[in-house]
Parts: sequence; C-alpha cells; structure tokens
Amino acid sequence: MLTNEDNETLTRVGPGTPMGELFRRFWLPALLASEVSEPDGAPVRLRILCEDLLAFRASDGQVGIVEAYCSHRGAPLYFGRNEQGGLRCAYHGWKFAADGECIDVPNADHPRDNSKARAKLGIRAYPTREAGGIVWVYMGPPERQPAPPALEWTLVPPSHRHVSRWLQRSNWLQGAEGEIDTSHISFLHKDHDPATSAIYVTGANLAVDGAPEITVKETDYGFASGARRQLGDEYFWRVTQWLLPMYSLIPRAPSTAFTGSGGRAWVPIDDYNTTTFAYAYRVDQPLSADELDMIEKGAHFPPRTARHAVQLGSGQPIDAFVPLANFDNDYLIDRDRQRTSNFSGIAGVSAQDRSVQEGMRGATGQPRGIVDRSREHLVRSDVCIMIARRRLLRMARELQQGLEPDLVMNGDAYGVRAISKVCATAGFDEFLQQFGHECAIQQEETK
Ligand code: FES
Ligand SMILES: [Fe+2]
Repeated sequence: MLTNEDNETLTRVGPGTPMGELFRRFWLPALLASEVSEPDGAPVRLRILCEDLLAFRASDGQVGIVEAYCSHRGAPLYFGRNEQGGLRCAYHGWKFAADGECIDVPNADHPRDNSKARAKLGIRAYPTREAGGIVWVYMGPPERQPAPPALEWTLVPPSHRHVSRWLQRSNWLQGAEGEIDTSHISFLHKDHDPATSAIYVTGANLAVDGAPEITVKETDYGFASGARRQLGDEYFWRVTQWLLPMYSLIPRAPSTAFTGSGGRAWVPIDDYNTTTFAYAYRVDQPLSADELDMIEKGAHFPPRTARHAVQLGSGQPIDAFVPLANFDNDYLIDRDRQRTSNFSGIAGVSAQDRSVQEGMRGATGQPRGIVDRSREHLVRSDVCIMIARRRLLRMARELQQGLEPDLVMNGDAYGVRAISKVCATAGFDEFLQQFGHECAIQQEETK
C-alpha cells in the first residue's frame, strides 16, 4: 500500500508537480511519425502532462510540437493553415514556425517589421526528434535536454518493428504497473487453447505456475526482474526490463538466440488519461506477414483502434486512437468465451489489461479515478511494483530538492533486452552469470 501523500506524488503530472517535473526531464513519445507524415499536412491535437499541444510537420519536414492556442486571443491553432513554413491561425492570420516563433502578424502593422516585438508573441514550443517511427518531445528546461534513449526498437530498420498508440482512460501508473506485474499474465491473459494463447508477447506455459518466484536486480536504468516458473524438471525464466520512467520490455517466447521483444510506454495525457505506446520488434529479420497480421488485427498485442477527436473533460479535444473494445462497452466481454476459451472472456491482451486497469477503485469510490493505493494488500509477487514506486518517489523528491537525474544524459543505458529461457538454473544471480550478456544487463546495483 501507499500513503495518500505518496500516491498523490506518483500520480499527479501537471506542471510543477514532483512527478510531472520528473517526466519533463525525459524525452517522451508524443505521437506516431506517420500521423504527421506530410509536410504542410493537418496538425494533430495532443495533450501531454496536462498541457494542450499541437503537432505539425512544417514545409521543411521539421515536426513542431507547440502549445495549442494562438498567442493573439487564444484561438485553437488546430483549425489553422499549415503552409509555407508555419501554422497560420485561422482567426486573424498570425503565423507560427515549428519553433514557436511568431513569424507574421498580418492584421497589425506594429510588430510586422519589428522582430523584437514579434518575438514576444511566440507560443510555447518544445524540442522534437524522430526515432523508431515515433515523434519524441522534450518538455523540460532547455539547458537540460537529455540524450536520446538508445532503446533497441528505435534503432532497428522500420521493417523490423511495429509501433502503435492508443488512449487508455486511467492514470499512467495503473498502466505502467501492469507491465511489471508478471504474475497477472498467468490469469488475466490465460487462454485455454494453447494455439491462441498470447505466446507472441508472453511466451508459452505461463499458466502452468501462477506464483512465479520473482527477483529484482536494480540498475541505473530501472530494473531487470527475473520471474522463475517451474516447468517440469526445469525452470521457465522470463527477464522483463523496466526502464525509467515508464518503459517496459517484455520477452518473446524462449529461444536459444535473442530475436526481439516488445513492450509499452505510458505517457500521461493528464492525471486521468494516458497514451499507451506499444512496440514490437525483431533484430534478426523483418517482422513476418503473419506477425504483422497478428499485431494489426489486435489479436494479442495492440487493440483494434480507430482515430477520433476525443473530449477528455477539459481543454480542447485531442486526436486519439480509441480502442473499439472499451470501458463503455464492457470491453466486449463474452461470458461464454470466459467459460470455455479464456480466463477473461475478453479478446486481446491490451483490452484485457484495460478492462482491469481503467475501472480500478478510485479514492472517491468511482472507477476511472486514480486508484486508491492506501487500500491495497500487496503480496510477494507485487515486489516489482513496490520497487518501481520507491524508485520513482525517490527520484521525484530528489528532483524537488535540486538533484537532477543523471540517467537522462546516458542514452546508452537504455540498450538492454528482455529474454526468456528454459533451463535448470535456479538462482537469478547464476542465471545472469550465464545469460546476462544476452540482455546486456548492467550489473551495477543502485542504492
Ligand atoms: S486568435 Fe489567432 S490570430 Fe487572432
Ligand atoms: Fe497484461
């Protein structure tokens, strides 16, 4: 359990909050590059860390992520014209470059020829970069811009990876905690038919042992957790990586050589909504047609989604991919299927996860709030969650005291892998001695 104070610290992400400021020290996935594929194309409405933003690709190919409202009288720039090096507000024609500079004020003479005066009329803009099919944004102090995280899925050729994003209507931590909660896989994601079980993401045989022995190795980037399940005379090991502040790497099914993995990143929209980014990749070859088909149909990994403008309660609408199975339709639960074919009665790993994470009991007793962690009863298998919370709380509080996170300057720290193995090795230390080189785990313990 957590005190209400700690829970508030971990979950609130607006400007000035401890966790909001910590997130602002990292590069964050903002949207898919394919959503702004065309220079001078339509902008995309975003909200990140409680700020309304707009992404657009300018004429020179640069992606701008800027505040969503015009500096003149606050009109939504979404309705503007993206043309000739900037976004022109539809109301009175003021124009803004991708870096936020106001470059034209056509309805007034005064600042038009006065660049100093015009500079004051700029809108907030954040640095962006593109990698891994994603546009990333950095929303922190300019002088502390971090190194790009060398996440392997961002480095493989485009044919070797699949990325997607969708809206999750919960606080970010409810999603992120599910990623490092290995024991739920044996239940929530159990499929009675091995042919359709979530092998792609989780590996086979997870249902055999629902109480894995979990050992956590803290590292500079977060931690590696080893979940050991009994499998006949041997052990089935899954090493999952958690990378600060909110990335997971989940192993594929066991194999002798590393072929790839997948995972998710949880980017807070505000305190109650999150953009989930999912990635799957191979290192050895392009994703096969079958693999892509499975991913795109949403059979296991991302959900089927459709892009909509969504009103979340405050500010402007955002453009989000909304899962077709969602809170409003009970995630299309099929009770017959639950009796006969899978544990949840819900199709797809992601919809299964959302069904239990979006409706968690909030402090007011209402679902879709922020889960009340003072009322939980954590057990041994929740060890990863306890460690992640402790780590995040410590970093957020240190930052409040002026201690910047060193990690953000070390992008290479993110170059790790998630693996799974079937072997006779019983201890995690021994396992790492044997196979640690395959996941490039940094053995350095953090205090
Ligand atoms: S509100 Fe945008 S130009 Fe007037
Ligand atoms: Fe899950």
